[in-house]
Amino acid sequence: MAPYLPDPPVGIVGIGSDAPAQLLTNHDLEKLVETSDEWIVERTGIRTRHIADDKTTTSVLASNAARRAMADAGVTPEEIDVIVVGTATPDMLFPSTACLVQAEIGARNAAAFDLAAACTGFIYGLNVIAGMIRNGTCETGLVIGAETLSKILDFQDRTTCVLFGDGAGAAILKRVENGKGLLSVRMLSDGTLGDMLKLPAGGSLHPATHETVDLRLHYIKMSGNNVFKSAVKSMTGIVRQGLNDVGIGPGEIDLLIPHQANIRIIEATAKKLRLPMEKVFVNVHRFGNTSAASIPIALDEARSQGALQDGMTVAVVAFGAGFTWGSAIHRF
Ligand code: UT7
Repeated sequence: MAPYLPDPPVGIVGIGSDAPAQLLTNHDLEKLVETSDEWIVERTGIRTRHIADDKTTTSVLASNAARRAMADAGVTPEEIDVIVVGTATPDMLFPSTACLVQAEIGARNAAAFDLAAACTGFIYGLNVIAGMIRNGTCETGLVIGAETLSKILDFQDRTTCVLFGDGAGAAILKRVENGKGLLSVRMLSDGTLGDMLKLPAGGSLHPATHETVDLRLHYIKMSGNNVFKSAVKSMTGIVRQGLNDVGIGPGEIDLLIPHQANIRIIEATAKKLRLPMEKVFVNVHRFGNTSAASIPIALDEARSQGALQDGMTVAVVAFGAGFTWGSAIHRF
């Protein structure tokens, strides 16, 4: 893809997030599968993850995050022109989760649709909405990354069930003053590697049958080690591309917010970018991998902890199923 053109400037003017109250610890998982707190912490950095109860769907978490982002931005539901929800765990195949959120928050003037880019959904959504604002079809956009991955986890498969968690994060996008907002967005995909991380059944290839249920095909399947290697390489490359677009070096980034999948992926990416870990935001130990929700939740936490402040140049980067990956550089 060609470089992002930052004029007229569009940026994030409000952030919010939500996660279910219930926590699942590594010790809880030790009772379900052959694993240990030690293995999980050493190989992933994860200690707890938030898990939704039966009534809490993706649209519930997404709507809560959206309300907080709207309050933060001082925007009413009626002002929202478009809602994009990045999710791999929609409430159902259709209507879209974005339409369910629209109804829930009362954004009656909005167009609403879901975006399927797995863990990269929030970054893809930023670019889609920024493009709509710049082409004049929308003034105020709401982008959400929201997941209830616990509902598609196989709690008999230790290679996946220890990794993921539930949550949602949202951002309001608008025109901003010159020099602020999105300075670069980069998106890439490689569909030839789709088999490495997938949920095989429930679509047109394998509609739900007793057999697909018996074969446990409605759960995440992942070749973890291959995903790991591709993630580090792709995330490093696409942050470098973004920095190149903006004409700055890694030293000029105040904060890197990487997709929170695994502390080793985060550390390896930071090392390749020659960024000290003090400049890297990490909350994977408390959330696990929340896929599309990971970056907006981290943005919200970074801001409430004071790690993200006005005037900072922040790089976000994600990698996920597809494969898809992307980066954004944003001046707050
Ligand atoms: O958001 C993007 C999507 N996902 C990711 O980014 C995840 C990317 N991948 C990873 O984070 C890592 O590859 C994992 C954490 C999934 C696995 O770590 P790894 O260092 O790549 O381990 P591995 O897959 O090579 O497995 C090493 C061993 C295996 O045993 P053997 O074959 O060596 O005897 C696994 O069976 O660890 C075993 N293992 C476990 N042991 C205890 C796998 N899962 C577990 C577990 N507890 N939960």
